[in-house]
Amino acid sequence: MFFTSLFESNLQTKNIVKDIIYYPNIDSTNDELWRLFENNNSDLKKILVITDNQTSGKGRGQNKWFSQPSKSLTYSFLLDPVFSNNYFNLHALLIPVAIVQGIKKMAFIDLGIKWPNDIMYKNKKLGGILIESKGINKKLNIGIGLNINESCEDFPDELRDLAISLKDIIGYPVQREPLLAFIFNELNDLIKLNDIKLIINSWIQYCIHNNKQVSFLQEGMQINGIFKSINEFGQAVINHDSKLINYDGVINIL
Ligand code: BTN
Repeated sequence: MFFTSLFESNLQTKNIVKDIIYYPNIDSTNDELWRLFENNNSDLKKILVITDNQTSGKGRGQNKWFSQPSKSLTYSFLLDPVFSNNYFNLHALLIPVAIVQGIKKMAFIDLGIKWPNDIMYKNKKLGGILIESKGINKKLNIGIGLNINESCEDFPDELRDLAISLKDIIGYPVQREPLLAFIFNELNDLIKLNDIKLIINSWIQYCIHNNKQVSFLQEGMQINGIFKSINEFGQAVINHDSKLINYDGVINIL
């Protein structure tokens, strides 16, 4: 059970989340958030949808998102764009920076980021972010899955070497409600600062593959390069054959 009142009592601001809708079970919090939005629930403001048991979690691309009931954080919230159209990519970088910093404030651990927004501990994934947008004013539906109190055996066989939970890292279970509030408090502080350079520099500081070899796709071909940085528009900058390429797609760390 996720205790929304405990979450709210740790939340320092209602700028981002005001109405919290908890479901014991739901297919996907992103899908439910769109359903609420499309049914024009005008009485609902700054909605957070959270569940203890997401039965059809979606990952980026065609991926599925696995979560163990009552042990992880699976939630989605609606956000008005913070950056203008040219800088839209920066949303995908802002969110992981807030998560890394929010978790550090509560659990005192250093997490990393893999392009564009996987939350990593060493080379294992602790969390993922799915950002969808709709409508002319491009409302953002930000879906986040974080492995919090799972044990290694809770992950399906195929994920066991790839995924990790916060409990596995620090050695004890964590209360999810204050942790989530810390993440939103951090996000609010970053949005208030409105400092694109700070977000880019923080992202690069947490990136686990900066100046490392990565492979990426160019015109359907898989090629290698060195991940160099992030440009002002929030694109990856990769050095391939001594040329700097601005890139938005998927990378693999070599
Ligand atoms: C990824 O790394 O592929 C993104 C994973 C995003 C998973 C979260 S869990 C809550 C929200 N609802 C979904 O169906 N997906 C996102």
